[in-house]
Amino acid sequence: MKYLLKKGTVVCPITCKESELDVLIDNGMIVRVEKGISDKKALALDASQCIVMPGFIDLHAHLREPGEEEKETLYTGAKAALAGGFVRVVCMPNTEPPLSTSFLIKAVAQSDASSLFCRVLPTGSLSKNREGKEIAELNLMAKAGAVAFSDDGSSIQSAGLMRSLMLYSLTTKKPLFLHEEDVNLSPQTCIHEGKASFVTGVEGTPSSAEAVMIARDILLAEETGARVHFQHLSSKESITLLRNAKKKGIQVTAEVTPHHLVLTEDETVSLNPLFKVNPPLRSTEDRNALEEALVEGVIDVIATDHAPHTKEEKTREFELAPPGIAGLETALPLLYTYFVEKKIIDLRRLVEVFSINPAKVLGKKVFAIREGERAELTVINTAESRKVNPEKFFSKSKLSPFQGFELYGWPEYVFVEGELRFLKGDFPLEERRSKGVD
Ligand code: DOR
Repeated sequence: MKYLLKKGTVVCPITCKESELDVLIDNGMIVRVEKGISDKKALALDASQCIVMPGFIDLHAHLREPGEEEKETLYTGAKAALAGGFVRVVCMPNTEPPLSTSFLIKAVAQSDASSLFCRVLPTGSLSKNREGKEIAELNLMAKAGAVAFSDDGSSIQSAGLMRSLMLYSLTTKKPLFLHEEDVNLSPQTCIHEGKASFVTGVEGTPSSAEAVMIARDILLAEETGARVHFQHLSSKESITLLRNAKKKGIQVTAEVTPHHLVLTEDETVSLNPLFKVNPPLRSTEDRNALEEALVEGVIDVIATDHAPHTKEEKTREFELAPPGIAGLETALPLLYTYFVEKKIIDLRRLVEVFSINPAKVLGKKVFAIREGERAELTVINTAESRKVNPEKFFSKSKLSPFQGFELYGWPEYVFVEGELRFLKGDFPLEERRSKGVD
């Protein structure tokens, strides 16, 4: 099959191209990137209102399989990720049972969903069954396909265990993805200690609950040489620690979520459970510090922390509802509308935080848009806006704190592993499969 993406603005930081070009794809490979290509045998895809970028990678999503399939499955999660513009999605191990064995890792890594939608890459748990007590079978899980290790949803409380994990992880050559939260400082109410806790009367989580763990793990990363990636940073104190660590040359990376970049504790004052997330939405100063770090390059990656829950759970009262926001399908338009359109970051930086840096964190080859590369492309429409309508999400979760937000930058075409898998709201491979063509 041949495709011709016509007149898109191609942004490829690797080839330093950023201009209106055509991209010809033949048999899954990019064969030409030039102006004015014509090829009658190719299916022409109009990209004149579009930005053509190397495929986006989400380093942080909860796909809930096995065990909580009423919230999401690998199939619906991979479909939602693809619709959100992602060609790869890294799923977290806080499932039931947790992804803590090579057997489960293999089952997720070989999921059928990966061949129809976006490729699913599993993380194995750091500690056995995520209990925070013993080291899990990291090497066996790495061999079975785990791309990283994480106890996300929980944090390793013991400095001794964390140090052993870091040393042991060196033998796996995989990064550690760390959810940082000292439970002695965190009541886990998911309300920021500050204005929100004061106004609501709900006990708050201070920023220090995150920052003390970041400080500890920067020290341990320096001492052990482990590859450490901090998940969903939320506070200005954490950013200061990260900035100083990077200045010192310590090999740590970090991600921030769209919701922490766009929303603040002001939203949680209403105690609307849609805004309940861990770590909590923090103050305006914290949000500003995250934005500054995004612009400066101190933040390496934007990750969704897609955390779907059932409607029944998310409509309970705030203190009883589980934390989490379904973010796979809004991440890219939010970043485009709030940061690129407003000229806070440029398209190259967007590609860096969504494609290049996530690939580097995983130690994988960076995608590029040039001849001889397999097509891994995220193409977004920047001319047409659309309101967020969670009812239309492909995720099983039909809830979003961004409902009604008018956004630009929705995915138009997505090529995964050389195949056109998303085409303006359609999923060509799934359709062919259902018609029995494949
Ligand atoms: O809000 C969150 N939800 N934060 C986490 O760390 C875990 C996640 C979940 O699994 O629901």
